[in-house]
Amino acid sequence: MDLKNSLLQVGQDHLLENIDSLSEAERLQLEKEIASQDFHLLNQLFKEHSSKPIISTDDEILPLTFDLAENNIKQDMWEETGFLLLEQGQVAAFLVAGGQGSRLGFEGPKGAYDIGLPSGKSLFQIQAERISNLSARAGHPIPWCIMTSPLNHEDTITHFEDHHFFGLPRDSIRFFSQGTMCALDPNGKAIKSSKEHLALVPDGNGGCFRALAQSGTLAWLIEKGVRYVFLYSVDNVLVKVADPAFVGALASDGRALSSSKVVRKKHPQEKVGVFVIKNKKPSVIEYSDLPEDLRSETYPDGSPLYDGANIAIHLFRIDALKKLQNTPLPWHSAKKTVFGVNNAWKFEQFLFDAFPLLGSMTLYGVSREDEFAPVKNADGDDSPKSARVMLGSLHKYWLERAGVSVDPRKLYEISPTISYSGESLSQTVFDRELGKNILAFDP
Ligand code: UD1
Repeated sequence: MDLKNSLLQVGQDHLLENIDSLSEAERLQLEKEIASQDFHLLNQLFKEHSSKPIISTDDEILPLTFDLAENNIKQDMWEETGFLLLEQGQVAAFLVAGGQGSRLGFEGPKGAYDIGLPSGKSLFQIQAERISNLSARAGHPIPWCIMTSPLNHEDTITHFEDHHFFGLPRDSIRFFSQGTMCALDPNGKAIKSSKEHLALVPDGNGGCFRALAQSGTLAWLIEKGVRYVFLYSVDNVLVKVADPAFVGALASDGRALSSSKVVRKKHPQEKVGVFVIKNKKPSVIEYSDLPEDLRSETYPDGSPLYDGANIAIHLFRIDALKKLQNTPLPWHSAKKTVFGVNNAWKFEQFLFDAFPLLGSMTLYGVSREDEFAPVKNADGDDSPKSARVMLGSLHKYWLERAGVSVDPRKLYEISPTISYSGESLSQTVFDRELGKNILAFDP
């Protein structure tokens, strides 16, 4: 069937209006983008989402409780196990970085953002140096998979090239782009962003399982003998990439296919997803979807009932990723202004919707001060400033714990090249590294 007829069948033939006025190159571009879209699926999603609530009142929702991992006497054993797995090359890192970072008001890839630390390091560089530290200690490079989107793919690679891949072996990093979905207007018609382009938006971080497989990266990991994949978001300046203790904890659990780090919610309205048991399955409900009555529900002592915050740090067994490459996740919708069209429909998948499909997971409780300082907004909560203060306070605490006399008026930034999570510090190291790999700054 020709393109015109196939688009007629799905009610999207307006996309070919004015096609005769396009140059040959423009026409080919438009046809390629049209061919990349599943309009049957888009039409079906439009029909469903213009009528249905995300949490139906029939859903049974209960809190998913957790303990702090640091209180578990097995912590040292987990760390040892994790290191052993790192040494054997069984652990990889997987960064989902295809988002637009629009709340921050930064144009480039969010990972390239310099949050104003004295070193001037970007989020990507901090993560790269943590990977480098662990790789050196394990004596084995940690493969790093980086998912971009067509909106930032080239810029991401350029940023890494400009920084010589932060000293990591080039062949240990793989970049690949996620898929896209065309935005629809309020009547369900596909939107064009220009005469030869569709309004294509990234298909959500849940597109990561499909993109990992379709790009050949899953096969690459399997071939390397990787069995545990540390999957995380780009914006958390404290993320302990490939954390050995976290890896060891999942490896020591014979049953679970995945594990997620969790912190206690700061307050009932904090904009984080929460871990719940939904219809008897472990799940995350996004902040915007958690009904207000559940959000404010408390235990008799006044503490929030739904307090397990998703900090977007997960660990998957490779078997789970094999299963997820062909398991469709549900779609979420948002109404946004897209290329000047108000109330346009955007469809996305969320990676945490994998948890109910996998069925068995564990939660690994951590403290916010140690592990969660996201950079989402230009000012206030979860901003570059709040992240700087959290990192500076944590690193100062590491120094104090190591018996270093610090300046009480200052905060400190310690390079991940000399300490991954507070180890290898002393007064001698401090005296040698101050002004080099340890930098003091004002709060
Ligand atoms: C996300 C979580 C939220 C959690 C919070 C913690 C989702 C849907 N929500 O919220 O439950 O409490 O982190 O910080 O995951 N991304 C892509 N492709 C996309 C969209 C996003 O790779 O199409 C990436 C982003 O680059 C980022 C991560 O996914 O690294 C999360 O981004 P975002 O969608 O902005 O979710 P948050 O609001 O940060």
